[in-house]
Amino acid sequence: MSILSSVDMATKLMHAVQYDSYGGGAAGLKHVEVPVPTPKKNEVLVKVEATSLNPVDWKIQKGMLRPLFLPRKFPHIPGTDIAGEVVEVGPEVKDFRTGDKVVAKLGHEYGGGLAEFAVANESLTVARPSEVSAAEASALPGSGLTAHETLTRIARVKLDKTGESKNILVTAASGGVGQYAVQLAKLGNTHVTATCGARNLDLVRSLGADEVLDYKTPDGAALRSPSGKKYDAVVHCATGIPWSTFEPNLTENGKVIDLTPSFSSLMTWALKKLTFSKKQLVPFFVTAKRENLSYLVNLVKDGKLKSIIDSTYPLSKAEDAWAKSIDGHATGKIIVEP
Ligand SMILES: NC(=O)c1ccc[n+]([C@@H]2O[C@H](COP(=O)([O-])OP(=O)(O)OC[C@H]3O[C@@H](n4cnc5c(N)ncnc54)[C@H](OP(=O)(O)O)[C@@H]3O)[C@@H](O)[C@H]2O)c1
Repeated sequence: MSILSSVDMATKLMHAVQYDSYGGGAAGLKHVEVPVPTPKKNEVLVKVEATSLNPVDWKIQKGMLRPLFLPRKFPHIPGTDIAGEVVEVGPEVKDFRTGDKVVAKLGHEYGGGLAEFAVANESLTVARPSEVSAAEASALPGSGLTAHETLTRIARVKLDKTGESKNILVTAASGGVGQYAVQLAKLGNTHVTATCGARNLDLVRSLGADEVLDYKTPDGAALRSPSGKKYDAVVHCATGIPWSTFEPNLTENGKVIDLTPSFSSLMTWALKKLTFSKKQLVPFFVTAKRENLSYLVNLVKDGKLKSIIDSTYPLSKAEDAWAKSIDGHATGKIIVEP
């Protein structure tokens, strides 16, 4: 049974924020009233309680990711990382009922998160325990899954400390992804060096980093570990750092996992492959998996992982949240609440 009948929902309007074309930044966002979406057979309709932003949201608006993540069509309601309550379920949904609290990852091609209601595929929706707030949960999908996959699949860190010891560098450790990368890396058998701005040195240390470098100092800019350690893997969340800076800091088989592949980093990747270099640059794109999201939610529930929240905005001020994300200086995640 649904909290609101399907007829009610289909005729109901909701507040949403959307854009009509590429470009425009925060000023390109429009506040609209649109019909509440109807869940398809494998989808749940979620009354959104929190949505977190990711840089990819405004990069898609800018057209930077064409043709990879085209919005399916304009107008487009952005936002993919939501937490809320299920108010209606599609006929083939098995694991959820109305009233369930959930967190979900929506697809970039459809988005939908900056709205009062959004539809989520069951396959990327997980239950949210009462101990985990909507804001903390909504922070997890894009950023947490990225940190988790880079560390476990590419850097091969075992998060139960059963693996061999590894030296990990996390750049931009104060950002949405970096904060989780530091915390998750420390669940494994690792030594973690992290870079961030001076104002966040203590925060990043408190997340578990063994060594923290201010990226505006000479040693920080050179990514030099204070203890002289070379890195087995770099979770590279910052941008604009050339291969020549990483290279002397890597172990013989060290990998730089590049979250923001550019033309020049793709060239480096190709060159390293062609020359059979043991040191590698790995261009990375996250693959969202439900079991990994569930794992992260449970870590938060158990107090083993926390979501650092930079700021929270009401949906009516979504453009301010958008501008804050474009600015690139958030500490942790930016949240929008309907
Ligand atoms: N490929 C994928 O699948 C994937 C997935 C998720 C994210 N990403 C990408 O990964 C990147 C990071 O995302 P995010 O959400 O973590 O970004 P974010 O939250 O916007 O990062 C902001 C933080 O980065 C810090 N920062 C900026 N430049 C830095 C530098 N050179 N050294 C150290 N810290 C620096 C800033 O510190 P200050 O304020 O002190 O400057 C700020 O705290 C973005 O480009 C995003 O698009 C890719």
